[in-house]
Amino acid sequence: MNISLRDRIKEAKQFIHSKSKIKPDIGIILGTGLGALAGEIESKTKLAYKDIPHFPVSTAPGHEGNLILGLLSGKRIAAMQGRFHFYEAYSLEEITFPIRVMREMGIELLIESNAAGGMNPNFKAGDLMIITDHINLTGNNPLIGPNDDRLGPRFPDMSEPYDQDLIELTQEIAIQEKIRIHRGVYVGVTGPNFETRAEYRFLRLIGADAVGMSTVPEVIVARHSGLRVLGISCITDECIPDRLRAVDFKLVIRVAKEAEPKITRLVKRVVEKI
Ligand code: HPA
Repeated sequence: MNISLRDRIKEAKQFIHSKSKIKPDIGIILGTGLGALAGEIESKTKLAYKDIPHFPVSTAPGHEGNLILGLLSGKRIAAMQGRFHFYEAYSLEEITFPIRVMREMGIELLIESNAAGGMNPNFKAGDLMIITDHINLTGNNPLIGPNDDRLGPRFPDMSEPYDQDLIELTQEIAIQEKIRIHRGVYVGVTGPNFETRAEYRFLRLIGADAVGMSTVPEVIVARHSGLRVLGISCITDECIPDRLRAVDFKLVIRVAKEAEPKITRLVKRVVEKI
């Protein structure tokens, strides 16, 4: 028998609750090479995705697969160490399932991080970008299918997917911390190949500053379930068509790793101030 999405969410939540009594207020998704924040979480319980009912299992390089419950800057959080991507052949419903579960556990706010290619000529590899808006260019949508009105509306609003107060707070803290940060539009694609020059030209033309293979489906589900969202991209490579160099995934990981202390410091301070 097929179990409904809502029942699968409840089963996953019950399992997690049987392992940790922490009721998180904030969810955090730790993207490519940005897992270091996990080391800063105190009093934590770490659950492998493979042990949680109905959770998919992560296969992407640079991604571990654990849900961590604990305290960050004194706040109760749930952190996803490793996320799921469309190019791994999961459905968008599977990819976004953990967000629904964290919502059921009580989070009201989601912090997203990712590695992205920078198309805005002012962006340098290693810079951070606060996501102000996104373009869904995956050709798909996690909300396609029957809508359970108890989870969210059939036609969710997307006029402000990224919370303006959180954008301002993050920018202020970055300035205090002397962290070079931009604001910009993130375009979500499926990957797994990096883009052609003609595609970068197109993506820039339609209004995007950075491109990546995650985040957008997650944010759609987060907004569907009424969460406030903050998104931070680490610009790992410069995608300027007229001076494009071959992208090496190892380099993407290395740049993301080098930026790790910066993004960790930023997110810790943001969480402290929320
Ligand atoms: N495209 C180009 N460069 C990137 C990406 C992407 O999706 N992700 C990280 N660097």
